[in-house]
Amino acid sequence: MFIHVMGSGAGGGFPQWNCNCVNCKGVREGTIKARRRTQSSIAISANGTDWILFNASPDIKKQIDDFPALQPGRAVRDTGISAIVITDAQIDHTTGLLTLREHIAPWEIYTTEAVRQDLTTAYPLFNILGHFRGINHHEIATDESSFTIPSAQGLIFTAVPLNSEAPPYSPHRHNTVPGDNIGMKIEDTRTGKNLFYAPGLGEAEPHVLEYMRNADCVLVDGTVWTDDEMSHEGISDKRALEMGHLDQSSEGGIMDILKSMERPRKILIHINNTNPILNEESPQRKTLEAAGIEASYDGMEFEI
Ligand code: MLT
Ligand code: MN
Ligand code: ZN
Repeated sequence: MFIHVMGSGAGGGFPQWNCNCVNCKGVREGTIKARRRTQSSIAISANGTDWILFNASPDIKKQIDDFPALQPGRAVRDTGISAIVITDAQIDHTTGLLTLREHIAPWEIYTTEAVRQDLTTAYPLFNILGHFRGINHHEIATDESSFTIPSAQGLIFTAVPLNSEAPPYSPHRHNTVPGDNIGMKIEDTRTGKNLFYAPGLGEAEPHVLEYMRNADCVLVDGTVWTDDEMSHEGISDKRALEMGHLDQSSEGGIMDILKSMERPRKILIHINNTNPILNEESPQRKTLEAAGIEASYDGMEFEI
């Protein structure tokens, strides 16, 4: 399968429009070695023609402009995106659906019931899309049963419920339910290889570690280096964990978890603009690389 990173940044992207943290200021002024990043999304394809979009970021127009495979031009209105999977109802993973409203047919959209509830009540994106061509909603089960998507021949998907946070506007904000956040195992039946994708990991749950250990590639939560990173620069007093993200550097954090695994290629995604690993010359980035962990970037492509 082909994996294309549409956006490697967390909510806000990098630089964030109103942010003057060391990184955002540095990349804007060209004083640090770092790449700009749009907001979190990937696209996957078994055949290189039909793509499944995972999460629809507010930056989707730029992401499609930068990736010609998603604009194949076979008809007067056309797209290479054949279906959309949403892993949580956060703004950075969903707002792009509004940009995609001109699609000529109902979108085939896959979410859990919890996410469908958010997107039809407090944040009614699906209702709004109903006034355009609408959607065909497919429920993703949270019992780790596998499913297929008709346009993704040869791929098998397994949703993995994650203990994390529901968005601030969610009816389950303070009472999370299975399906508020999922990771996804995507297996290619031809190569026998599998990817584990989880842009938001709030806890090192045993069942999740098992999926990661058995993956050929993990593309996982790269939000923050330290849990209190956002308070360092006076940006927010929220800890990353309260937002459903494990940090990289602490004991038992993402780096420790990944270091303990032999099989997978290890790549971080959903990297927040405050994260020092964005500076390619930072000691933190060197530490990450020494641990055999990569930071994904917009437009990164690989095959497994
Ligand atoms: C998150 O993952 O916590 C989000 O990126 C927050 C946001 O987009 O507001
Ligand atoms: Mn996010
Ligand atoms: Zn910033």
